[in-house]
Amino acid sequence: MILITGGAGFIGSHTCIELISAGYEVLIIDNFCNSSPERIDCIHSITGQKVSSVAMDVRDVEKLEDIFLRYNIEAVVHCAGYKAVGGSVQKPLAYYRNNIDCTLALCEVMEKNGVKKLIFSSSATVYRNDNVMPVAEDAPLACINPYGWTKLMIEQVLRDVYASDNEWAISLLRYFNPIGAHPSGLIGDDPEGIPNNLMPYITQVVAGKLDTLHVYGNDYPTYDGTGIRDYIHVVDLARGHISALNYALKNNGVEAFNLGTGYGYSVLDVIHTFERVNGTKVPMVIEGRRSGDVAISYAKVQKAADCLGWKAEYGLEKMCEDSWNFACRQYASNFK
Ligand code: WQD
Repeated sequence: MILITGGAGFIGSHTCIELISAGYEVLIIDNFCNSSPERIDCIHSITGQKVSSVAMDVRDVEKLEDIFLRYNIEAVVHCAGYKAVGGSVQKPLAYYRNNIDCTLALCEVMEKNGVKKLIFSSSATVYRNDNVMPVAEDAPLACINPYGWTKLMIEQVLRDVYASDNEWAISLLRYFNPIGAHPSGLIGDDPEGIPNNLMPYITQVVAGKLDTLHVYGNDYPTYDGTGIRDYIHVVDLARGHISALNYALKNNGVEAFNLGTGYGYSVLDVIHTFERVNGTKVPMVIEGRRSGDVAISYAKVQKAADCLGWKAEYGLEKMCEDSWNFACRQYASNFK
């Protein structure tokens, strides 16, 4: 059985679906602090299989111990964690406490129970912001916000864990910009409050929940002046976890892998593609740059292809189509 922490979240829930499709038995733990138990029902509807889940905090070591005693856990996919960049700047202690403690508690219980295969949700934000693109896994690392630092610190913790005991097999998955949704439209990115990320902002503007998209900067040194990112369909990203898991089940070590498409698209590319494939208009206004944003970020994806045999399959059109399909179900009652 595969234990997945944060299995009701955006990435976690899509990963559960792919794990189940790949034939794995899955146990979800989630405290639902940024998701809801209905997600579990959606996973059930999509896969046609009942998924076991426990509502708990990963830091609850006693409960975690109990889970490892009761179930035959073979490996862990660790997606649980706080993820808002802005929130982490406002509440750094909460972010360090939660994200790092969760991982320490999890690894301690894993070690005690002899489970040493771990797939960790890291982020492309661990790369120093002056790297040449596309960025490879061995590029210099540094962060500019507490959220990023929690990811980088955890990567270091996991490297040290492996150094102390070479029976561990650990994948550090550095996500680029996951967007899109499950093609069923049942699960997708559904942030609380006003979204910080581009795609949920676009869908809420088009759905009439927000007035106008603010495009943060058109004076970057890019072909149209707007920021360039490596957007990846969340289903592709989820499948990357299965490939990493299969790899970790066979190979000990600690390895970082970029999960991106290897292509960069500008904010205007995303807006225009969204408009074209969904037959909508995205009301927008150009604003000044958002602090902390880099001009260009996209992945070198060779390592994941070579080691994991994984490659993203979906393009920007499918990402835009599936994001809107999910939003339509979500916000149906709010349309203007
Ligand atoms: C993408 C582009 C913006 C919103 C962040 C985190 C990263 C990861 C993913 C983790 C940029 C522009 C955005 C808007 C805009 N987080 N934009 N108007 O900043 O690349 O990455 O999310 O869980 O760690 O840093 O993603 O979607 O916010 O921005 O113009 O309203 O869209 O300036 O160029 P980002 P994003």
